[in-house]
Amino acid sequence: MEEFAVNKVFRLLEPGPVVLVTTSFQGNMNVMTMGFHMMVQHEPPLIGAIIGPWDHSYTALKETGECVIAIPTAALAEKVVDIGNCSGRHTDKFATFGLTSSPAGEVEAPLIKECYANIECKVVDKTLANKYDLFILEAVKAWVDPKLEGQPTMHHKGDGTFSLDGKVINLQDRMVKWKQFRD
Ligand SMILES: Cc1cc2nc3c(=O)[nH]c(=O)nc-3n(C[C@H](O)[C@H](O)[C@H](O)COP(=O)(O)O)c2cc1C
Repeated sequence: MEEFAVNKVFRLLEPGPVVLVTTSFQGNMNVMTMGFHMMVQHEPPLIGAIIGPWDHSYTALKETGECVIAIPTAALAEKVVDIGNCSGRHTDKFATFGLTSSPAGEVEAPLIKECYANIECKVVDKTLANKYDLFILEAVKAWVDPKLEGQPTMHHKGDGTFSLDGKVINLQDRMVKWKQFRD
């Protein structure tokens, strides 16, 4: 083994697909890119999201307590990176990047029609937002577009390079202790 820089371990662990986070604040919709997120609890479904004060979305999330986590497929790859390299303070990102908003059911933040999935979320704990920029979100409603099912999502390697989902292997028959998660 070769030693790996400890301040770069996020490149090994940064979890899950890169997502877009939408908010709606003072009559304006916005969207940002987020790589730092994790599932925290199954029931009710809780998601940890790191959204920093450098983001315009941070203020929107803190003030409104609502957002949508939208999961793009790799077809949107370049837009996803560009959305994370400009701010809603100066740019109408829905117009600039040709994203189609659609009303959500439980929150004011919009869904993004071009994305494979949209998860409507409410902030349930922001006690670690000041210290770690960590918001605990409860998923209150979710949507998927069956037409995009199976399309690869993007996974950030932490340095501007991305891997795409590859081959799926099915090991469900070995999930003997966790049968409830096989459906
Ligand atoms: C691939 C990628 C991943 C990112 N992940 C995060 C993240 O997890 N948390 C965060 O606060 N910002 C993250 N960013 C940066 C924000 O998307 C960026 O600051 C964006 O401009 C914020 O937009 P806003 O000011 O309109 O909210 C990421 C950017 C990119 C390109």
